[in-house]
Amino acid sequence: MAVDLLLGLQWGDEGKGKIVDVLTSNYNIIARFQGGPNAGHTLVFNDMKHVLHTIPSGIFHDDVINLVGNGVVIDPVIFKNELGKLDDQNIDYKKSLRISRKAHLILPTHRLLDAASEIAKGKAKIGSTLKGIGPTYMDKTGRNGIRVGDLELDNWKKKYRALANKHERMIAFYNVDLQYKLEELETEFFKAIETLKALIFIDSEEYIHQALKKEKSILAEGAQGSLLDIDFGTYPFVTSSNTTAAGACTGLGVAPNKIGDVFGIFKAYTTRVGSGPFPTELFDEDGETMGRVGQEFGATTGRSRRCGWLDLVALRYACQINGVTQLMMMKGDVLSGFKTLKVCTAYNYKGEIITHLPYNIEEKNVTPIYTEFNGWNEDLTKMEDASQLPKELNEYIAFLEQDLDIPIKIVSVGPDRKQTIFR
Ligand code: GDP
Ligand code: IMO
Ligand code: MG
Repeated sequence: MAVDLLLGLQWGDEGKGKIVDVLTSNYNIIARFQGGPNAGHTLVFNDMKHVLHTIPSGIFHDDVINLVGNGVVIDPVIFKNELGKLDDQNIDYKKSLRISRKAHLILPTHRLLDAASEIAKGKAKIGSTLKGIGPTYMDKTGRNGIRVGDLELDNWKKKYRALANKHERMIAFYNVDLQYKLEELETEFFKAIETLKALIFIDSEEYIHQALKKEKSILAEGAQGSLLDIDFGTYPFVTSSNTTAAGACTGLGVAPNKIGDVFGIFKAYTTRVGSGPFPTELFDEDGETMGRVGQEFGATTGRSRRCGWLDLVALRYACQINGVTQLMMMKGDVLSGFKTLKVCTAYNYKGEIITHLPYNIEEKNVTPIYTEFNGWNEDLTKMEDASQLPKELNEYIAFLEQDLDIPIKIVSVGPDRKQTIFR
C-alpha cells in the first residue's frame, strides 16, 4: 500500500479539513505531518461545525487511527482544549489518537517569542498566527527543542527550565513592550502536559511502516498551503515548515516511493490571511463579495482573509512541486452571481510575459494577465450530481483541467460534508 497525500495548493484554508473528513471512510489511518495550531480545519456535518487545529480531521469517524506525526509541533494547552471539545461531544479518542514521540513541543515562551518578533518587525511583520510556530521550528533545527518523547524521561523539566530561561533572555533582547506572566502560563502548560501524557505516544515511523506492510490505507493531511511552504512559498511571508509533498516524507518518515495519490485542493478563487504579496488580490466590490459570501474569516485567528481571483500561474507551480494527481475545487458556490469571472493565466513580470512563478511576486514587479469567463447565477449549494452543474461552471472547470493537465475529481458546493460532488 501507499500513503496518499492531501495538500492545500494556495495560501491555506482551501477546505482541507472538509475533504479529509469526506475521504476518511476510505482510509484506516489519517496522519498530520507538519504545522501545528496555526492550522484551523473546519468540518461541518449534522448541522454542527467543528474546528480542529492539531488533531487530524478523521477524528469523528469510528475505527480510524488519527496520528500526529513527527513533523507536527504541539502546543499542549491548545491540544488539551481541542480534546475538551471532543469530550463535550462524547468522541472517544483515547484509543484512536496516537502521537509521535518525535513531535516537538511548543512552550509558552515560544509563543511569547513569536509575539516579540512580530512586534519588533513592525510594519514588516509576517502576520503570524502568534502560536509560536516559527520559534518552535527554530529550536527544532537549532537542536534545542523538547520532544513528546522527552516527557517520558525524568530530566525533561530541567531541560525545559534551561530553554525557557534562554527564551526569556531572548525576549528581553527584543526590547519591545510585551507584558506577560510566565508563571501563570507555565501552570496551565504543566497541567496540559499531564493531559497529553495520558494519550498514546508511539514511534510513528515504525507504526506507519508496519501499517503499510499490513496493507492499511493511509491519508496524510497537510496544513497551510504550498505558497506558505518555507522553501517554495512567498518567503519570508510563509510558515516555518514544508507544507508541500516532500514534507509528508520527512514529517511521517515515509519514503518517496511509498507515496500514492496526491490530492491537491484549491478554492475557485484565492484567499490569503496575514502579510505578503498576492498578485490577484481585489480591493473592490468583487473581493468584498467573495469575503462576505465565502465567510472568509480565519478559523484560528478570526482575521479577515484577503480575497482575489484564481491565480493559475501560482496553481501550476503548486501542482508541479507537489506532483498532484487529482484536483479538488472548493467553494465554487461562492462565485454564483458574478457576471464575469477572471483567471490569471500569466504575469507581466518587469515588462516580460511569463507563465511561471518568478522569484519575487511583489506588486511592483508583477501585473496579472487575466482570461475572462462567463459567470453563472444558479445556486450550487443544493446540487448533488455533476450533471446538475451549470454550463459556465463546466467551462471554467474544463479550462483549468486542460491547462493543468490534471482531472478535477471533486467540486465542493458548500461547507457541509454532503455538499460534495464527485466527478
Ligand atoms: P482548511 O484550513 O483548509 O481546512 O480550511 P478552513 O476550514 O480554514 O477554511 C475553509 C472554510 O470554507 C471553512 O469555513 C469551511 O467550512 C468552508 N468551506 C469548505 N468548503 C466549502 C465550499 O465548498 N463552499 C463554501 N461556501 N464553504 C466551504
Ligand atoms: P490551515 O491549515 C492560512 C499564515 C499566517 C501567516 C503565515 C505564518 O488552516 O490552512 P505562522 O503562525 O505559521 O508562523 O504564520 O502563515 N498561516 C495560515 N494561513 N491557513 C493556515 O492554516 C495558516 N497557518 C499559517 O497567517 O501569514
Ligand atoms: Mg484553515
